[in-house]
Amino acid sequence: MQPLVTVVVLVLFIAYSTFRAFQNAHYYASPYISPFYSPCITTRCEGDSFPEFFTGPSWISPALYILVLPLGIRLTCYYYRKAYYRSFWLSPPACAVAEPHRRYTGETRLPLLGQNIHRYFLYAALLFNVILFYEAFRGFRDETGEWGHMGLGTLILLANAVLLFMYSISCHSCRHIVGGRLNHFSRHPLRYKAWTWVSKQNARHMQYAWISLFGVAFADFYVFLLATGTITDLRFF
Ligand code: FES
Repeated sequence: MQPLVTVVVLVLFIAYSTFRAFQNAHYYASPYISPFYSPCITTRCEGDSFPEFFTGPSWISPALYILVLPLGIRLTCYYYRKAYYRSFWLSPPACAVAEPHRRYTGETRLPLLGQNIHRYFLYAALLFNVILFYEAFRGFRDETGEWGHMGLGTLILLANAVLLFMYSISCHSCRHIVGGRLNHFSRHPLRYKAWTWVSKQNARHMQYAWISLFGVAFADFYVFLLATGTITDLRFF
């Protein structure tokens, strides 16, 4: 059952996010921008968002320029590797279940050897985390650009930024960056403290991986509903 549920949920997410990334519309509802399109780096972007760097052809969705980075971190993530090796390739489907393939080479050959690039995707993801917080804080403005606004969308984008940050910070590579390659923790008390905290989060990495996946899809869907006029944003002040 577990591999089946993983396949169904991941396929649904991939189908939804692919549709939205190619849709090239309904991703901005002032002052909110969908996380699938953030940072929006071309002058073709709807609304006023992240600084725009270049003019791309209008038929290329702005989401496609940045998609490789969030996709890359999920694809090479240690947890998702376990999940999709087990559920899509049944290689093997669980602990103590026989490997269906004749030979097992693990990640010692191309293309799976490329999974080692994960650490570099983490660096990019941390940069994206900063940008998502920036975009979430822009949600404290109203349509005219005045600060002091807060709507349900502000909270949803903020929660999404926090969840994605927790996903990055609980990453196995992050744990190694913070506390790895040290012979004596006693000589590095600050790194030891940080490593202890990151290790606690690391134990919940699977949960952060799933919650942040649902969170990012939900945040996008909320912006989509606002942008299409299906609902209006709930304003607190
Ligand atoms: Fe999952 Fe790094 S191990 S993001």
